[in-house]
Amino acid sequence: MKRLTILDLQKKKDQKEKLVAVTSYDATFASLVDASVDLVLVGDSLGMVIQGHNNTLSVSLEDMVYHTKAVARKLNHAHLVSDMPFLTYQVSKEEAVRNAGELLKAGAQSVKVEGGAEICETVRHLTRLGIPVMAHVGLTPQSVHQLGGFLVQGKGDAQKDKLLRDAKHLEEAGAYAVVLESIPQELALNITENLKVPTIGIGAGIGCDGQVLVIYDLLGMDPNFKPKFLKQYAYLASDIQKAVQAYAREVREEKFPTEEHSFH
Ligand code: KIV
Repeated sequence: MKRLTILDLQKKKDQKEKLVAVTSYDATFASLVDASVDLVLVGDSLGMVIQGHNNTLSVSLEDMVYHTKAVARKLNHAHLVSDMPFLTYQVSKEEAVRNAGELLKAGAQSVKVEGGAEICETVRHLTRLGIPVMAHVGLTPQSVHQLGGFLVQGKGDAQKDKLLRDAKHLEEAGAYAVVLESIPQELALNITENLKVPTIGIGAGIGCDGQVLVIYDLLGMDPNFKPKFLKQYAYLASDIQKAVQAYAREVREEKFPTEEHSFH
């Protein structure tokens, strides 16, 4: 099977076919999701769901390279995009190229960066050098302290205008897709209708060209994380807890292992 390219993703938007994206951070999940989705994102959300931090700011390039390599080994179909972590693309265009290059060498087919007009020159530089870039506007988690929390963006008229302008500038700078995170659905639809490249929403309503969710969120791995934008398609937290409790009970009661699981 051939891995989807950014041209295939554009074709899907042109043919009004919805794009499906999900995060993965390891080889097992990558092989489980590969055939069902168009894009796999190695998100810097791994700082929260894998590493246990309160935000994504402490994720390093080395972390992203490590997880990208694990995911890349198991993808045969989906396009692999990896997040550029905080401070790996904001300082200079030269650093951005070097760091994006490390992610491509690790197996990513494209990189994702957060921000609007202020990072357009970097996006232009990367894409001119042959590194495909997915942009990310709205709630940009790497700016959590500037935004005052993980809050819905694009509520007032000025913010709405700015987000539309940012998205258009990013497209013009060469971004092949734009993630729209936590913005009103009418605004996301307006941005989607004004862009030629695909939009991929999370907390941005039905009008986007595609959707992305964090795999652990859609699988219900954290029973306490239920933001409005999230639909849980499974409730694995309780299944996992029940399985581990059953295992612990059987070990303590000497019911596992049995003859069936033993060598002679
Ligand atoms: O880091 C991430 O997983 C993301 C998605 C939620 C869009 O940026």
